[in-house]
Amino acid sequence: MSALDLPALLDLADRAARAGGEIVRDNLGHLREVRTKAPGDYVSEADLASENAIRAVLESGAALPVFGEETGGDETDTGWLVDPLDGTANFVHGFDAVGVSVGLIDGGVPVVGVVHAPLLDRTFCAARGIGAFRNDRRIEVSDRPPDRAIVATGFPFRRKELLARYEPALGAALRRFEDLRRAGSASLDLCWTAEGVFDGYFELRLGPWDVAAGGVIVREAGGVVTDWAGDDRAWLRSGNILAGPPAVHEALLDIAASGASSTA
Ligand code: IPD
Ligand code: CA
Ligand code: CA
Repeated sequence: MSALDLPALLDLADRAARAGGEIVRDNLGHLREVRTKAPGDYVSEADLASENAIRAVLESGAALPVFGEETGGDETDTGWLVDPLDGTANFVHGFDAVGVSVGLIDGGVPVVGVVHAPLLDRTFCAARGIGAFRNDRRIEVSDRPPDRAIVATGFPFRRKELLARYEPALGAALRRFEDLRRAGSASLDLCWTAEGVFDGYFELRLGPWDVAAGGVIVREAGGVVTDWAGDDRAWLRSGNILAGPPAVHEALLDIAASGASSTA
């Protein structure tokens, strides 16, 4: 049993994510500087200011380490994982699918998650054993069968070496499900899966800050989250993720196996 006070930490994560979201919203349409970390990998002053605001709230409310995508920190098994702006390319292009993601892991397992979508005016949250919510309404994964499912994914656009593994899975997914979506924000892909808008989600090589919060939100909404081989812990660090209601998750495991012979 965790010694952490999860309801109090959920409240803290909520305040932190909203503080970040306010900065993201204020920066909309007047970014002065967008730096490119790598092809397609942007960082703007909104990412940095959001992370600083989130860190300040988290550090003032609990004695737990904070690891942020932009400014780093202690990579421990118990602490916060923060993506201050998930979907920076969307933000730069004026597409509103952006999330501010604050997750807490305990012993390497996500136990609290808040994903605030400041441009869509909604907040998803969950804590282990408490359930998953969009604003104040409880959410659940869908019960559509795989052949009627619309499944989200993210392309490995920054790591072309992953295409050998990803492309067979993409083809198999397109054959198995009704349709696919690529919205460009991993944290929101997971939340939309948690509320049954999407019926599942798969992507390779994300960061733990992308998936910690959304992972617990999917689980608390009744979904299954594993890596591409079915491991229910390794996905957090590898970033190879399959998420969805049990039937779609099963189908995703088969689909993931289509690229398994690749070593990428
Ligand atoms: C990215 C988004 C995108 C996913 C990328 C992530 P960022 O996060 O979540 O959907 O495909 O792999 O890195 O860089 O905008 O925080
Ligand atoms: Ca991200
Ligand atoms: Ca980010």
